[in-house]
Amino acid sequence: MNRKKFLASAGTMAAGFWIVPRHVLGGRGFIAPSDKVNVAGVGVGGMGFSNMKNLGEYANITALCDVDTKYASKCFNTFPKAKTFVDYREMLDKFKGSIDAVVVATPDNTHAVIALDSMKLGKHVYVQKPLTHDIYEARILNQAATKYKVVTQMGNQGHSSNSNIELAEWMDAGVIGTVDKVECWTDRPIWPQGLPYPKEEAPLPEGLTKEGWDLWLGPAQYHPFHPAIYHFKWRGWWPFGTGALGDMACHIIDPAFRALKLGYPTSVEAFSSTFYESDFKAASTPDSCPAASKLVFEFPERNGLPATKLIWTDGGIKFDRPEGLKEDDALGWDGGGVVLHGSKGKAMTGCYGHNTTLVPFEKMKDFKKPLATYPRIPKEDHGGHEQNWIEAIRQNNPALASCPFSYASPLTETILLGNIALRAAKLKGGNKKLLWDGPNMRITNFEPANQFVKREYRAGWSLDI
Ligand SMILES: NC(=O)c1ccc[n+]([C@@H]2O[C@H](COP(=O)([O-])OP(=O)(O)OC[C@H]3O[C@@H](n4cnc5c(N)ncnc54)[C@H](O)[C@@H]3O)[C@@H](O)[C@H]2O)c1
Repeated sequence: MNRKKFLASAGTMAAGFWIVPRHVLGGRGFIAPSDKVNVAGVGVGGMGFSNMKNLGEYANITALCDVDTKYASKCFNTFPKAKTFVDYREMLDKFKGSIDAVVVATPDNTHAVIALDSMKLGKHVYVQKPLTHDIYEARILNQAATKYKVVTQMGNQGHSSNSNIELAEWMDAGVIGTVDKVECWTDRPIWPQGLPYPKEEAPLPEGLTKEGWDLWLGPAQYHPFHPAIYHFKWRGWWPFGTGALGDMACHIIDPAFRALKLGYPTSVEAFSSTFYESDFKAASTPDSCPAASKLVFEFPERNGLPATKLIWTDGGIKFDRPEGLKEDDALGWDGGGVVLHGSKGKAMTGCYGHNTTLVPFEKMKDFKKPLATYPRIPKEDHGGHEQNWIEAIRQNNPALASCPFSYASPLTETILLGNIALRAAKLKGGNKKLLWDGPNMRITNFEPANQFVKREYRAGWSLDI
């Protein structure tokens, strides 16, 4: 029996390791080390370290890869049995026979190439949000998941939270009627955006080699190293990150995207802050994401649901307080909020889909929640999202994953379309409502915007499925 089949039978036998009696498996939740999924982590200095800790008990952390050995040292030291690498390609080559699955938690720019290389070897993948840096990459990863029959999960852990799932049940049950407007806000960016790109080159920090920097850049065009674009701060620069929208919308738009079955939008319009380099002189900073933005997405009628407008704001701008929400009531939670305007009422949820409620809050007093129709994920978004992926691998059942690429790709593509609009608006003639042909991945009324659908990879990098 090969390892994939063995894991599947072990998983089926365990019928979910959460419920097997102690005497059968040696304790509630116990899995013999030999039955555990062997996982490799790529990019483990930041969020990847949290992912590894959430998996630690349920998986063998077999190999770890990070281009910055100093930044990743905490993770390396936490899992001393794992073999460590700088180059993920070398790791995949050496460990292809012994790892089952790969977690990708590098900056957005390199998600697609690392995930695809892993899937091509038959490895299951957990890829941090946003799934990819650009729309074309997301489409390819979704196709690859089907082609290579692997279990996939995007790392928007809130998707596994009960409160997020409940919102979908409320909408299915028509609790607030049909929804034609959704408003979303985030408190991001909490990192620098709206700056001129650093001109000078800086020395490489301790722990990062020239080869490591080249891998950090991955398919992005060559840029010399500078600390202003490095750890965490890469978010604010288009060549590597996806700005406030890309960073947070997979958490914040997600509950509405699922509950309203939104699918591809048909248009998007962007509004963003201007930055100045001197008196009355607006700066041209094409590589920098804006300090604040507003986006308006339009979704068409779909299966009896009305056309829906979704409005996104970031950088300190919020939408109007909805009627019925008192002056001291929170307009969302955890640094973000979503209000759904229905024909029979309003619902609100926080970042990650937390604390779903009716508005005004008093309506919750006599509210009877509709029947639970969607499966719940044990431990919700407190490690449950990663562990749900492992359980789907053990049962060799991609459909068991909470947020597989078949859902994560259209969600990410929609969000990244907002970034196309933000960038296109800075081009001559692009400051308008852009019309989107989702199935064919094309802006139909402003050709130059299509350059942002699929970026040009640096020589040596490709996305051949
Ligand atoms: N789900 C969440 O709540 C959540 C929270 C934070 C970050 N994230 C996501 O996780 C990803 C990483 O974000 P972060 O804040 O941890 O960034 P970070 O810059 O702090 O960490 C990224 C890590 O990847 C390493 N790395 C970069 N390129 C690499 C490569 N080619 N090969 C191997 N290692 C490489 C870096 O050295 C670093 O250790 C992003 O996609 C981000 O959106 C998700």
